[in-house]
Amino acid sequence: MLRIGIVGLGGIGNLHARCYTENKHTQIVAVCDLIKEKADAAAEKYQARAFYSVREMLKSGIKLDACSVTSAGKENGGDHYKPTMELLAAGIPVLGEKPISNEVAKARRMVALAKQKKIPYGINLNHRFTPSAVRAKEWLDKGRLGELNIINMTMWINNPNESSPHFHMRALHPHSLDVMRYFAGDVAKVQAFFKKGPGRQIWSNVQVNLLFANGTIGHLTGSYDAGGSYGLETCELVGSQARVIINEACEKLSFHPRFSNQVESYEHLGGMKSFPDTFPSRIGAWIEDLRKKTLPEKIDAKAEDALKVQLVIEAAIKSWDTGKVITL
Ligand SMILES: NC(=O)c1ccc[n+]([C@@H]2O[C@H](COP(=O)([O-])OP(=O)(O)OC[C@H]3O[C@@H](n4cnc5c(N)ncnc54)[C@H](O)[C@@H]3O)[C@@H](O)[C@H]2O)c1
Repeated sequence: MLRIGIVGLGGIGNLHARCYTENKHTQIVAVCDLIKEKADAAAEKYQARAFYSVREMLKSGIKLDACSVTSAGKENGGDHYKPTMELLAAGIPVLGEKPISNEVAKARRMVALAKQKKIPYGINLNHRFTPSAVRAKEWLDKGRLGELNIINMTMWINNPNESSPHFHMRALHPHSLDVMRYFAGDVAKVQAFFKKGPGRQIWSNVQVNLLFANGTIGHLTGSYDAGGSYGLETCELVGSQARVIINEACEKLSFHPRFSNQVESYEHLGGMKSFPDTFPSRIGAWIEDLRKKTLPEKIDAKAEDALKVQLVIEAAIKSWDTGKVITL
């Protein structure tokens, strides 16, 4: 049984907690939040010890096999650095939330410390932990799509938060860009246009063009002024032999051959109902990596992947600021 700690007990920390509670290989032994009431409530709910700082938790000598860090902060990532660095420095594997950080320099330091300590450090890039994405990747890898020419991604939700100019790009698009990288690999060049929605102060809409290192060309449409019946996300892979569409991360998958009209389609592949199911799926994969003692550089959705995504995000912002195509 792996002994788990959770740092940051907001909505998402509690979602992680539910996944660990339901997984037979994990037991939550510690919960930690700067806000005493949140830590105490979680301690009671999950039958764990409450702490009010990571330092105090580490000083207590409690044995931890791994921790989730589900803090938030500026652009939903500003608070991750301190608790993550404290845990990594103590040799504890961390599953962080996205964005890995809203500041690339801090993300680099966290990745470097995990590497130096040779410990697993993953990020909850949960959108691609779906049977549909896995099946589409298998098709791609086996050549069923031919060569991948184009990848299109749309990801949007309603989010009225006005906290900082690039909140939308930094907080939401680690997910979309990670899914794109999963299929098409590293990004070489980035160009972006942003637009503020009506009455908004922040850049709440974006169109990004991407050139991947393998030559695939990609496009991301993103918005905080959409959602509801617009859906959450659509990913389209356009190959020389076939086109694949994934709707709502896991709800629909279809395969459209180029030279035939016989479409193959799946709904809720693998029994995955809807987006919230991606949390137990991703956290389950993290637990399996810990149990199998997967080498830190081989774990799925590792922090380095999240850092690479952050570099694409910063390049998109720089492209808009300068009017140029940015080479990574
Ligand atoms: N993967 C996903 O699909 C998904 C979806 C939504 C949000 N998120 C991410 O989840 C994270 C958390 O979101 P939330 O809505 O639960 O945030 P929240 O603000 O509700 O909760 C964060 C908690 O962390 C605590 N905290 C901050 N710094 C701390 C520290 N050093 N030590 C202990 N506790 C600390 C805060 O007191 C707060 O209670 C964000 O990074 C967000 O981007 C991920």
